Amino acid sequence: MEKTNNYTRFRIPAADEQGKRLYIETYGCQMNVNDSEVVAAIMQQAGFTITGEMAEADVIFVNTCSVRDNAEQRVWGRLAIFRLLKQQRPGLVVGVLGCMAERLKEALLENGTVDIVAGPDAYRALPKLVREAESGQRGINTLLSHEETYADISPVRMDRNGVTAFVSIMRGCNNVCAYCVVPYTRGAERSRPSRTIIREVQTLFKNGYREVTLLGQNVNSYCWKEAGAPDSETVTFARLLEMVALLDPSLRVRFSTSHPKDMHNDVLYTMAMYPNICNHIHLPVQSGSNRMLEKMNRGYSRERYLERIAKIREIIPECSLSTDLIAGFCGETDDDHAQTLSLMRVAGYDAAFMFQYSERPNTKAARHFADDVPEGVKNQRLNEIIALQNRLSLESNRRDVQKTFTVLAEGDSKRSEAFLFGRTSHNKVVVFPKAGHKAGDYVSVRITECSSATLIGVEDAKTVYPPSRGKPVLF
Ligand code: SAH
Ligand code: SF4
Ligand code: F3S
Repeated sequence: MEKTNNYTRFRIPAADEQGKRLYIETYGCQMNVNDSEVVAAIMQQAGFTITGEMAEADVIFVNTCSVRDNAEQRVWGRLAIFRLLKQQRPGLVVGVLGCMAERLKEALLENGTVDIVAGPDAYRALPKLVREAESGQRGINTLLSHEETYADISPVRMDRNGVTAFVSIMRGCNNVCAYCVVPYTRGAERSRPSRTIIREVQTLFKNGYREVTLLGQNVNSYCWKEAGAPDSETVTFARLLEMVALLDPSLRVRFSTSHPKDMHNDVLYTMAMYPNICNHIHLPVQSGSNRMLEKMNRGYSRERYLERIAKIREIIPECSLSTDLIAGFCGETDDDHAQTLSLMRVAGYDAAFMFQYSERPNTKAARHFADDVPEGVKNQRLNEIIALQNRLSLESNRRDVQKTFTVLAEGDSKRSEAFLFGRTSHNKVVVFPKAGHKAGDYVSVRITECSSATLIGVEDAKTVYPPSRGKPVLF
């Protein structure tokens, strides 16, 4: 679910003069973005002021990702810059947080730039680690926990638009996909108490937010039961989705990521029942070849995956689908690759995140399989996958031209302040003339043209929303 090559630099109001200033840079997935918001809350409580300007910071945290080698290389590049800064400002404290901290531990302290290393379950210790670093003592805490969910902490929202927010509902991962480092960097799966999730979403809604994305490595295995409660009160993911959807019909709900082996019909029926649960499922397939899927330890076959897609289409006909794909996993042949391409065509994905396999130390794949697909072949296969997806995305967008969608406006379009951008329920980006609307408004937009990445449209105030699946409200 790593969605971006760019790091997230938080834009924060002017720093107040009193507290020490903390600058946070974030790499990796949406969960890391949300973790940085938790870190900001912990540090603010300890008297720090968050700044968006690295140049004025007393403390720099870089929240890191280890999912592929290039994610780590980017952070090493940043550390080289922080080293120069430290030469100019000797009191500056540099902390490495997140997945790289957990994976590399003490090794990060060795190059002399880093003062603090804190793994994903150690963020409550950060104020203490900073104090120790200021007194010249380098600190490390990479203990993983079976309980920590930061459930009681209200993240400091740094997601800029005030309309959409991420809410973590669980941490860690219990799957052992052979290529993946996440279970080692994030530890065991644990669900957050549902009441704390509901409370957080209620507060967001009160503060003007109109869309939440419930986050976890495998949200479909979310499960929470209060101590002493009967089994009948167990909150499954389907139940949680319903609880959040019921908070207000004008609050949209998304979720990510769903593991195909755990995507059961109860979630699909819940989606079909509530118009404010968005019609989009991110269902990473990774490969279209049964041989690769088995070697990856994904727990489903090509046939089972396609059966899930057929069920999605049956229960939620207008649902959009996106996926993650890995090109060039260990032992992948031309035939395996051809099966990935053919599965993409059958699934007709609306969007995809596509990666070249990157061996991660100590994973099952690194220990047992040779990383034997030559770099050039991996690259070529990835390019073929990207080219096919571009075609599929364009076809998907073309099918939407002349249709009308309810778009939740998120902010000014990058191209012009006279335009807003927002997303449809099925997660497509739409650009349309502002015409008096603002971020947070729901606008009915008729699509007039498109590229493979964006829909362009005009407001269609006359449209009566098709009562989608017989559901009466806004969507
Ligand atoms: N929990 C999510 C994904 C987490 S990682 C899930 O299971 O779907 C996000 C994506 O990164 C994965 O879906 C996979 O496509 C990709 N990825 C993970 N490890 C990788 C590796 N070693 N090399 C290349 N891509 C990888
Ligand atoms: Fe990694 Fe698999 Fe867990 Fe996703 S489900 S985080 S790919 S181990
Ligand atoms: Fe996320 Fe990267 Fe860690 S994808 S869980 S920050 S390894």
